[in-house]
Amino acid sequence: MNVGTFPEYRPRRLRGSAALRALVRENELNARQLILPLFVRGGKKVRKPIGSMPGCFQLSVDEFLKECADAKAAGVNAVLLFGIPDTKDEKASGAYAKNGIVQKAVRAVKKEIPDLLVVTDVCLCEYMSHGHCGLVHQHSGGATVKNDPTLKLLARAAASHAEAGADIVAPSDMMDGRVRAIRTELDARGFDQVPIMSYAVKFASAFYGPFREAAESAPKFGDRRSYQMDAANGNEAMREAALDVAEGADILMVKPALAYLDLIYRVKSEFGYPTAAYAVSAEYSMIKAATEKGWIDEKAIVLESHLAMRRAGADIIITYWAREIARWLRG
Ligand code: PBG
Repeated sequence: MNVGTFPEYRPRRLRGSAALRALVRENELNARQLILPLFVRGGKKVRKPIGSMPGCFQLSVDEFLKECADAKAAGVNAVLLFGIPDTKDEKASGAYAKNGIVQKAVRAVKKEIPDLLVVTDVCLCEYMSHGHCGLVHQHSGGATVKNDPTLKLLARAAASHAEAGADIVAPSDMMDGRVRAIRTELDARGFDQVPIMSYAVKFASAFYGPFREAAESAPKFGDRRSYQMDAANGNEAMREAALDVAEGADILMVKPALAYLDLIYRVKSEFGYPTAAYAVSAEYSMIKAATEKGWIDEKAIVLESHLAMRRAGADIIITYWAREIARWLRG
């Protein structure tokens, strides 16, 4: 940018009044772009607080429906579902069971609130006894997550969500080739109109800590570094996103959000696809904790940080504050 030609130019001329600032504002938050993540579990009238995420709960389906209605009333048009099954096993049966917890919740909400967009997280970790996102092969040298055999299960899970009525499926497992496997299965079963929002750029991140309490999905051994990305790598993130585009992803997600704004920017600039940012659990917990201590102004901090995600290029923001933001925006 050459600023030498107009040495007398003063940006503050555009900041004189609220109306002037509004006139030249480049980005804004909008409730229609927000997705609220919710955790569903079995039982009735269950509303189990998640200790590290004040204001978030594990909800039985009846309570989940109330939460959806409340979100809709606030102006939020989309929810993202995570399931906490009653039992877990070594092949994640609960992830693709016709009567699995997510499948039940999706059927219920599509019946009660048909115009609420329902996105389902497609992963196996919540349903695996060992907590990994794929099938695990135990051997003398330790344990390895088996990529290719996992694809079939992910595709089955995605198709069962679509069958229950999910509007969008969102694979978060980070196995290679899963977008293609899911697209193929959805198309074969007549769900060619169901889009895939791919967790394209998902880092192995400490920012998921509180979520693992929420979803009861912490790995029992090892970590997720063999399938999630290294925080040091930006170019690799672009290769991951390119693969998902080639395999048929419709929406690309970057996760976490605040520490990875550079990648939201690069993914949006490079591919021009609808781009989602996921403001993950620890991003939520940190602000909540500082708010509880009276150290920060929650509303101002949340609006500013989510606006930064928009400025970086996010079209869609998945956030545990979706409802509050929608209400704040209405004033
Ligand atoms: C499942 C999944 C995770 C999150 C979303 N889907 C956890 C993980 O990968 O360990 C994290 C969301 C959050 O922290 O809010 N694979």
